[in-house]
Amino acid sequence: MTFTRRSFFRQTLIAGPAAMTFWVDAGDASAQDQCTLPQPGNAEQFIPNEPKVGTRYSALEMKTRPELAKFQNAFCKIRALPSNDVIGWDKQIAQHCIHCSPPPGTGTTNIHYTWAFLPWHRGLLYFLERILRNLSQNDDFRLVYWDWESTHSRTLPAIYAVQNPDCLYWSNRRTTGSNWPLPAAKVDVSALLGTPHFPAFGGSASQPGATYSGPHANVHNAFAPGDMGNLMYSPRDPVFYAHHGNIDRLWSSWLKAGGSNPDFGDAKAYFYDENRKWRYILFNDLRDETKLGYQYSSYMKPAAPVPKLHEFTMTLKGTMRSVESAALGEITKAKGPRFLIVEGISNLGELPPDTLNFGIFADNPPVGTQSSSDKGFLGQIATVHSEGHDHVGPAAAALNVTGKLPGLLKANKGGINLRVAPLDDSGKTTGPSIPITAANVSIVE
Ligand code: C2O
Repeated sequence: MTFTRRSFFRQTLIAGPAAMTFWVDAGDASAQDQCTLPQPGNAEQFIPNEPKVGTRYSALEMKTRPELAKFQNAFCKIRALPSNDVIGWDKQIAQHCIHCSPPPGTGTTNIHYTWAFLPWHRGLLYFLERILRNLSQNDDFRLVYWDWESTHSRTLPAIYAVQNPDCLYWSNRRTTGSNWPLPAAKVDVSALLGTPHFPAFGGSASQPGATYSGPHANVHNAFAPGDMGNLMYSPRDPVFYAHHGNIDRLWSSWLKAGGSNPDFGDAKAYFYDENRKWRYILFNDLRDETKLGYQYSSYMKPAAPVPKLHEFTMTLKGTMRSVESAALGEITKAKGPRFLIVEGISNLGELPPDTLNFGIFADNPPVGTQSSSDKGFLGQIATVHSEGHDHVGPAAAALNVTGKLPGLLKANKGGINLRVAPLDDSGKTTGPSIPITAANVSIVE
């Protein structure tokens, strides 16, 4: 199997009585269309006011739903639009691409490394859903989600592998190898659902939350070197929208568990609506999915309601992070799950530039260590390669450290030395670890 960075557009040939459709290699011209978008000066505000709330099913459920053919067909319709149509497939890709690598002075921002991450992608999916509803003249059309956190959904959802019709199919993807089926640790959402406040979960105006660098990044990376593994062009693969459906569902699930959204102020996102009008929508209007006309067929279940979580801040002395001795007693006594939340990690750029996986340790593992078998291994975060625009900015981590921390803390009088080391795809350290520089570290239980 070979991977190319080329893209395809749909052509319909009428040959005798049969209409044949197939994908034509569009070469680099289309790649241009996939990262440019006319952005008129004036946008009219879009205030969501959906007449009904429909259900977004999982891709697995959709496989046996009566509306499967309609679902596929809506994607056939959008993929058949011309490459330069502002609501066409290539422009959906462009909409995302221009926010992955903002060229200086374009007034766009990278939407992956701040609190924009969750609302912006929700907006992208929402406008796509409206466009697909309109193109297919079907008010009941809703997107699907890929529930990779469940044990029965750790491979590519079957409906995305169908080649006839091929409207959910994409050839440039890898779905075999050491990350397939997706390893449980790479799709573990428990620590994210156990994150006590939004800045750690979804970020702030200047810092990313832990949602970007957890399962979100791991699932993208599992597809590399296919398009999903390249942030800029990941929406070329229709499964991107099911993956982000699940990230969106993670956000909804965290809110249902009692998490609370911030006031995003006048922060906003711009999209073309189904009438090809350039619109903006406030992040504040994207906080509740039922206002956007959908709900999920199921939600992820947290270990404990968010308001019931106890957070113990670790204070920094030298390179040692410690909890107060009173807290230490409570932490070592409690039986429940424990999460380590690390916010504002700012020195990943000191690791080798191509690193995608970062192992977080409470020890100093020798190079070549299999992280999962190291006693001090606390978990892993990741970033996604983005052609020419790899990210070395801040990051956050939410790690499930149940069963690991009390022993480590006791051995060190309540302190740990947090370090980070580059990991390869299979979890082996590929270089020496360095101490983590972070704004805030806490233990949650
Ligand atoms: Cu904008 Cu999962 O990426």
